[in-house]
Amino acid sequence: MKRIGVLTSGGDAPGMNAAIRAVTRTALYKGMDVIGIRRGYNGLLNGDVFQMDARSVSSIIQRGGTLLFTARCLEFKEEAGVQKAVESCKKLGIEGLVVIGGDGSYRGAGDLSRHGIPCIGLPGTIDNDIASTDATIGYDTAMNTVMELVDKLRDTSHSHDRCSVVEVMGRGAGYIAVNTAVACGAVEVLCPEKNYDLNAIIAKMQASRKIGKQNFIIIVAEGIGHSEEIAQTIQKETGIEARATILGHVQRGGSPTVRDRVLASRMGNYAVNLLEKGIGNRVVGIRGNDLVDYDIQEALKMTKPFDDDIYDLTQVISI
Ligand code: ADP
Ligand code: F6P
Repeated sequence: MKRIGVLTSGGDAPGMNAAIRAVTRTALYKGMDVIGIRRGYNGLLNGDVFQMDARSVSSIIQRGGTLLFTARCLEFKEEAGVQKAVESCKKLGIEGLVVIGGDGSYRGAGDLSRHGIPCIGLPGTIDNDIASTDATIGYDTAMNTVMELVDKLRDTSHSHDRCSVVEVMGRGAGYIAVNTAVACGAVEVLCPEKNYDLNAIIAKMQASRKIGKQNFIIIVAEGIGHSEEIAQTIQKETGIEARATILGHVQRGGSPTVRDRVLASRMGNYAVNLLEKGIGNRVVGIRGNDLVDYDIQEALKMTKPFDDDIYDLTQVISI
């Protein structure tokens, strides 16, 4: 392959820049041209692209967000949109593509691969809800951001003898919630993978109060939602002042952690190695500390086990 493209698609995630950098630098190292495509699949449809060189990716490894911008592109979901993107790749001489995004972006990469443009998907999302990898790019940073913010909330919660109900992102998944619950010493975590009983939580809080616990952190995954109502019910039933805080998009920003920078750099490099061999229709993941790749359609059919051990731990060590 002489020329490849790279794009970011779906929600952004810290570490996407590190992945773009690794793709670009690896390709240049191998003597390939690299085309940066702006705003996901939109850039392919609109020809919003630029030639990248080694300096295009200078000083971005430490930055959150994505220098290529990102977007959701409805037109690309239709067959006509895919055809148009294929034509665009041909016109631009793009022989292979690295797509950094979530499951939706993988589906698009599968479509393009089927139409003769070999694509490699890299898992870029804070939610960690991609089954073909143990960890996604951005997940570790988002959890660290949540941890820092909840530590700050705990200060004020402690001063006022309050309960903080904290809603964290994750779309339909509770990976961020359950891990940050352990890291922040939360008394409870509510996540979509597990049933919860608010009455039992209230009883637990009352029992903990009797043995001297004065302030409480409860983590709620956004897939559960209703954090405001949960806080109100807790306050009404326990007499403990409760406040709900929805952390929101701040969880998607910030400088990526070491773990995310290294993961993204390794995956970006791996993707180009596959394309160089003419291999497409694959997604890259990490199992343990080893990088792996799977057929896109097979990857999309996989299911991801929940962190049951971590969840059980929250039930034992938070009293
Ligand atoms: P994510 O990649 O984070 O899961 P989305 O589900 O929003 O985010 O998908 C990002 C983009 O991927 C969409 O805007 C669209 O351009 C493309 N995409 C999503 N689903 C499909 C699909 N079924 N077929 C083709 N392209 C898709
Ligand atoms: O997938 C990443 C994510 O931040 C989810 O955690 C959240 O549900 C969603 O994207 C928010 O999307 P938007 O940026 O469109 O509000």
